[in-house]
Amino acid sequence: MTRPIRALDLPIDEDQFGIALAAALRSHPRRISPKFFYDAPGAALFDQICDLPEYYPTRTELDLLARYAGEMAAAIGPHADLIELGAGSMHKIRLLLSALEDPVRYLAVDISAEHLHYHASLLQREFTGLEIIPLAADFTRRFKLPASARASRSRVGFFPGSSIGNFAPEEACQFLAATARMLRGGGLLVGVDLIKAPEVLHAAYNDRQGVTAAFNKNLLARANRDLGANFDLDAFDHYAYFNPYDTRIEMHLISRWQQEVCFRGESFSFAAGETLHTENSYKYSIKSFQALARQAGFQPQQVWCDAQQWFSVHWLTMA
Ligand code: AVJ
Repeated sequence: MTRPIRALDLPIDEDQFGIALAAALRSHPRRISPKFFYDAPGAALFDQICDLPEYYPTRTELDLLARYAGEMAAAIGPHADLIELGAGSMHKIRLLLSALEDPVRYLAVDISAEHLHYHASLLQREFTGLEIIPLAADFTRRFKLPASARASRSRVGFFPGSSIGNFAPEEACQFLAATARMLRGGGLLVGVDLIKAPEVLHAAYNDRQGVTAAFNKNLLARANRDLGANFDLDAFDHYAYFNPYDTRIEMHLISRWQQEVCFRGESFSFAAGETLHTENSYKYSIKSFQALARQAGFQPQQVWCDAQQWFSVHWLTMA
């Protein structure tokens, strides 16, 4: 028997991308949130990134989940009411769900609605007894759980992939504090990418097949597709490097030459070498992340980490 899926999409502001792009083009330096990468083609490109030989985070975290799912499930306990932020293709949650004792509900939040609904229905076929609720929403904004997904019991948050790295540390702290309130005394299982040799980081964001470049440029392609912009994709270079002062990967789209871009009746000029900053991906040490979690009101518990210390998964409970 297959359960019917109950989708609870929140209205996502129709013109968010257009407003953010216009604001980015008008400001200097130009920057835009990485959440706009994830339309359906962008989500598919991100799935391709996860399979790249150079992109170690997904593989390493999946190994940790496969290896330590039993310990994680024991820490979480029975009858978990799970909420995943940025559920994507739901590969990681499968490992956790298989190890958990009688999980009762899985609320999958993701900004990419089409992708989310497709993968939720696939998952439902595998876990027939589980209540799966896909919720298309932007979790970087304050979002309220729909009434039907609210219950009095405490919840378990799952935030894998080091998506936390997209926030600057102060924002990450606020985000964690807001998540703690949403979890009502439950816990959070969060994946955090670690500081490591810059050449390993560099390779992960500059893959040889150019998938990361295509993912980065999808922002411009999406603007052309959805917003009628006229970006020349060949006139911008993908540029990603590790900034050791801020311990983050920065991704940029760099104008190869002087050019004008037209957007909504306004003309914007890019000098040669001028950038549109599209993403930060902060890296932490285990200690620096635990300090951040404490600041946000969590009590760090177990940490699972690979032998190379490339990636970590933290179990945080309420202090
Ligand atoms: C989804 C934010 C964890 O920062 O590694 C991958 C996104 N960007 N390659 C990351 C990303 C370029 C990814 N996160």
